[in-house]
Amino acid sequence: MKIAVLTSGGDSAGMNAVVRSVVKIGILRGCETWIVREGYEGLVRGNTQDYVPYEAPLADPIAAKRARGGVKSTIFENLRFGDGDLLRDGTLDHPNGRSLKGRYIVRAGFDDVRGWFAEGGTLIGTARCKAFRTQEGRLAGAHNLIKEGIDALVVCGGDGSLTGADVFRAEWPTLIDTLLAQGLITQEQHAKHGHLRIVGLVGSIDNDMSMTDLTIGAPTALQRICEAIDNINSTAASHSRAFVLEVMGRHCGWLALLAGVSTGADFIFIPEQPPQANPWEDELCEEIKRHREIGKRKTIVIVAEGAHDANLQPIRAEYVKDVLSERLGLDTRVTTLGHTQRGGRPCAFDRILPTLQGEEAVKALLESTPDTPSYMIGVRENKITRVPLMEAVAMTKAVADAITAKDFAKAMSLRDPEFLQ
Ligand code: F6P
Repeated sequence: MKIAVLTSGGDSAGMNAVVRSVVKIGILRGCETWIVREGYEGLVRGNTQDYVPYEAPLADPIAAKRARGGVKSTIFENLRFGDGDLLRDGTLDHPNGRSLKGRYIVRAGFDDVRGWFAEGGTLIGTARCKAFRTQEGRLAGAHNLIKEGIDALVVCGGDGSLTGADVFRAEWPTLIDTLLAQGLITQEQHAKHGHLRIVGLVGSIDNDMSMTDLTIGAPTALQRICEAIDNINSTAASHSRAFVLEVMGRHCGWLALLAGVSTGADFIFIPEQPPQANPWEDELCEEIKRHREIGKRKTIVIVAEGAHDANLQPIRAEYVKDVLSERLGLDTRVTTLGHTQRGGRPCAFDRILPTLQGEEAVKALLESTPDTPSYMIGVRENKITRVPLMEAVAMTKAVADAITAKDFAKAMSLRDPEFLQ
């Protein structure tokens, strides 16, 4: 089996560990492993130049090891030591002479991914790809995979990326029929690639996917936020100030809520459970006043970026700051943590989780048949799980729908029935 792995959507710590795990376990299970650069964008663009496999001289000990193991490395070698532009811009040449120009789907060997679990972001690049949302784009993607003989795909990304994966699989029979009708693939290729095996791993700092306890990258982002709040705490206490922190999470309040619990915040705004009082400003001020009266020298309020009131009006950090300054007379500052939450070295759990899930992904691909659904690899109560991808995506969408319908109790129970209630 030829497995390709791609990362898609917003990057998250642990995505490199996913690639490492899929490549290494894939090879150990007898598969050929490939990476697709720049997410679905790379799938759509494919390879426009002939592939020249990297042939290292056997005097090189690493090359000798490769030769012994029968694992041929690729032009991908050294990439992690290279310029980030190599990954970003397919028109640049690799400094050691091997060109990545026009090549988005490249073979990856065992050594290519060595040490990748300690690296932040995603070394193979990611993109939010519009073209893949069209059937034309998916047709190009299918053609590019078939041209390389790839019959299995691991997608690591958030719910949008995984929805794309499921659409791709559902449409696959139509796509290969069209490619055959257009004379782009042969009868033999059509027969050989009748079934696309797809598995999804959830890479997102937001922890917003249903049917899994944790998404890859969320623990690291939470750690980053906690460290930032620890730093702010000391300066806040020194001046007896209030700080309003805006944290990421899109429509999900997990980062805000857990950061608040981990740092002893005074008030937290999350989308799934807006403040009940009307106006909510009274509730906020009473709570903060009470905390000050019992002797707190500082105030920390965390606002999830998707926070809103019970009428779905956005709650902005700047506005919360004005409320605290004007109504309570607190010297208040706003800190938006932004992308510092997303980058940097993965914490231990964001190495362990993708490593175990990568192994499960390869297993699921090897066991996949035309009758089995595409799976999402999750984790529940410390056990690696497989759940039908589409069910998880549908459940995630149900949370968003419940919020839009102002059914916040339902949103909370769908988000994480056991933990958040
Ligand atoms: O989904 C991850 C995430 O970091 C969200 O928390 C945030 O809303 C969004 O991506 C930011 O996206 P971008 O990096 O494209 O600005």
